[in-house]
Amino acid sequence: MKEFWMKPWLLIPPRWAHELGPYALRVSSLFQSDEIPQWHPRKWRNFEFRNPLGLAGGVDKNGENVKDWWNHGVGFLEVGTVTPRPQNANPGKIMARDLNSYSLWNRMGFPSYGADEVLANLKLIGTHRTPLFLNLGKNRDTSLDKAAEDYTQLMRTFQDVADAYVINISSPNTQGLRLLQNSENFEKFLAPLVKESKKSNSKPLIIKLSPDENDESLARMITTSVRCGVDGFVLINTTTQRFGSHFPTEGGMSGAPLKKRSLECLKIALETLGKNREQLLISAGGIMTSQDVFERIELGADLVEVYTTLIYEGPYFFQKVARDYAKKATK
Ligand SMILES: Cc1cc2nc3c(=O)[nH]c(=O)nc-3n(C[C@H](O)[C@H](O)[C@H](O)COP(=O)(O)O)c2cc1C
Repeated sequence: MKEFWMKPWLLIPPRWAHELGPYALRVSSLFQSDEIPQWHPRKWRNFEFRNPLGLAGGVDKNGENVKDWWNHGVGFLEVGTVTPRPQNANPGKIMARDLNSYSLWNRMGFPSYGADEVLANLKLIGTHRTPLFLNLGKNRDTSLDKAAEDYTQLMRTFQDVADAYVINISSPNTQGLRLLQNSENFEKFLAPLVKESKKSNSKPLIIKLSPDENDESLARMITTSVRCGVDGFVLINTTTQRFGSHFPTEGGMSGAPLKKRSLECLKIALETLGKNREQLLISAGGIMTSQDVFERIELGADLVEVYTTLIYEGPYFFQKVARDYAKKATK
């Protein structure tokens, strides 16, 4: 990783960097190649991934920079988390960095322009250059017993522009959301979503899970999901653990300290699903370097996706990993 003085965006407060990021991204993407780099290409169902490295949920919440991310070489991307109705971020401080541990803290709570505006943005982007997944969340004022309706409504709204749906019930920043992962709620919550996903315009349904479940409960959620007809998993979201950092107790932490738990979760998923699995496995969490990307793929992840490393390394990370892969292949 390069020195911080070469990364001026790390010298401004994280909230400003977050606001300015999309503009800088747009400018930087103008100087990139039109071609999505091809390395370790994958096929899954009717999707083709020119490379397995994608953009994690939360980076492009409103689908405003999809073309810019394509120009930077992502192999796929998640747009969102989108909520049905527009809502603001949680009040007060919502993000912070720890430059020493390469981590981030956030308590954003699904700020979203709402489904209609995000749909309008996505209708403008034209032909998809990579698979594009819609990451969906409930509004904070929707009660848990009505949560499934928020998700099915979003699935219907995005059926013409989404290639698959990622169901986010693992964010620590929407009060009570993670309770949907509990055994008494999980299956009941999933059933209407699976039913909706299998309708005529059938789109894969992928569940994003939390790192803060114990191993048994993670394996239980994966088994239940498969039995219900879920098509894939994103492992993992941010954690409520703090690893000795100075961050506040509420909110979620991401970045390098998450690596160990993310690897454990990937191994649990691989064991639980077995060798002949048909479900898509996407690994996220603590993937900071090219080596981290290759390690996840060698372990058995189909795809990997990143957020925090983009804050520290910038959007050129995608091209760098492609170059490092080419170097590795010629060794
Ligand atoms: C500032 C911030 C905002 C995030 N927002 C979302 C979100 O809206 N939806 C989501 O599914 N995940 C969100 N995440 C979680 C990431 O997608 C990812 O699962 C997590 O950060 C672990 O990956 P990383 O270590 O590469 O950051 C967010 C993460 C950060 C740091």
